Amino acid sequence: MPPILNGKRIILGVSGGIACYKSVMLASRLTQANAQVDVIMTEAATKFVAPVTFQAITQRAVSTDTFESWTDTGRLRSGHITLAHAADLFIVAPATAQTLARLALGMGDELLSLTALSYKGPMLIAPAMETNMWGHPATQQHVETLRSWGVDFVGPASGRLASGEHGAGRMVEPDEIFEHACRVLGRGGPLTGVRVVITAGGTREPIDPVRFMGNHSTGKMGVALARAARDLGAETVLIHAPLSVTPPGGVTLVPIRTAQQMHDAVMEHLPTTDVLIGSAAVADYRPIHSEEKKIKKLPGQQTIILERTPDILKAVGERRHDDPLHPRLVVGFAAETDDLEENALGKLERKNMDMIVLNDVTAPDSGFAVDTNRVIIFERDGNREDWPLMSKEEVAQAILQRVAARLGRQNWARR
Ligand code: CTP
Repeated sequence: MPPILNGKRIILGVSGGIACYKSVMLASRLTQANAQVDVIMTEAATKFVAPVTFQAITQRAVSTDTFESWTDTGRLRSGHITLAHAADLFIVAPATAQTLARLALGMGDELLSLTALSYKGPMLIAPAMETNMWGHPATQQHVETLRSWGVDFVGPASGRLASGEHGAGRMVEPDEIFEHACRVLGRGGPLTGVRVVITAGGTREPIDPVRFMGNHSTGKMGVALARAARDLGAETVLIHAPLSVTPPGGVTLVPIRTAQQMHDAVMEHLPTTDVLIGSAAVADYRPIHSEEKKIKKLPGQQTIILERTPDILKAVGERRHDDPLHPRLVVGFAAETDDLEENALGKLERKNMDMIVLNDVTAPDSGFAVDTNRVIIFERDGNREDWPLMSKEEVAQAILQRVAARLGRQNWARR
């Protein structure tokens, strides 16, 4: 679970659209991540989903009425003010055209918009409405107004709408709103203003139009690193080979397939990269030719001649001799089966890295396709740390904390 949500107070404003049912999933994910979720529903929303559903999921009272009040910190206080002043994030999902208008016009004629008026923190809106309503100049004007105040939007997506028609207006999926909630909460964190580029996944080297040479990497570690960087406020770019896990939201995604494409993408981003983390399993060899037509089977053996691919981190390490500022930090991974330490230290040196993360891929709880990793960290200055068995998320968070510390950002006060 992302630590960024732990203990955070979130207002989830739900307005009246069929997408309300998806907001139940969002409330559930936020609550499971240890956030305290206070749901405010408009009257129209209660026609789609009963307040008790959200109440059961969040274990908190659901507010629907402006004139209700309740005790908080022992004193009887007005509900919307109590909630608005305590919240770290205000999400509106779904936001109907009507609710967008109320928010943009500063109206306070029902509890959701009234609470928004008393609230000064970050706000994330996930619109949901019929295509023409979304495209209407009034709605677009309201969106522009809200954006100019620093409000964040996620979606709407295009697809099949409740009316049966296709077009823009679908609320994005709860997981995507969840990802953006983390991004918004992470803003102003210790990696604010730092551009972190991460490589992930296993590259695929084509043999013919239907076959490739690949490896067992799922990309889990790289995706966890991208989330951890984003949640510390970094501007994050994920250059990734095909992944078997969902890529994170709120991160710039650069999909590639081959080692050469990954190399080219890394080099293109290099002038603006502050921290490069190479977690991809890059193929060291590729077929000398990729056949244009599918190779047919023939009797006897078949040989594929291979050539070397570019070593991305090594190329970056060489460039750093000319421009030591880009990137300021290079972190690599060493997935080893034998002579673990010696191999890792050799790579740290050869590729001019600042830190290398060693994992023993023969251990059953570490390496490819498992959720945990037991790693040893070696740093350029000779520092070595053996970390206990952790989830890949925890390893990723610890690596990014380490990166922040190395950049002198460990005691960063959130702005
Ligand atoms: N790496 C890279 N480009 C390559 C190969 C590896 O950038 N062509 C990066 C990996 O992303 C990783 C580090 O270098 O961060 C070490 O990768 P690994 O495959 O363990 O090492 P290799 O350099 O391929 O060495 P060897 O094959 O001898 O183990």
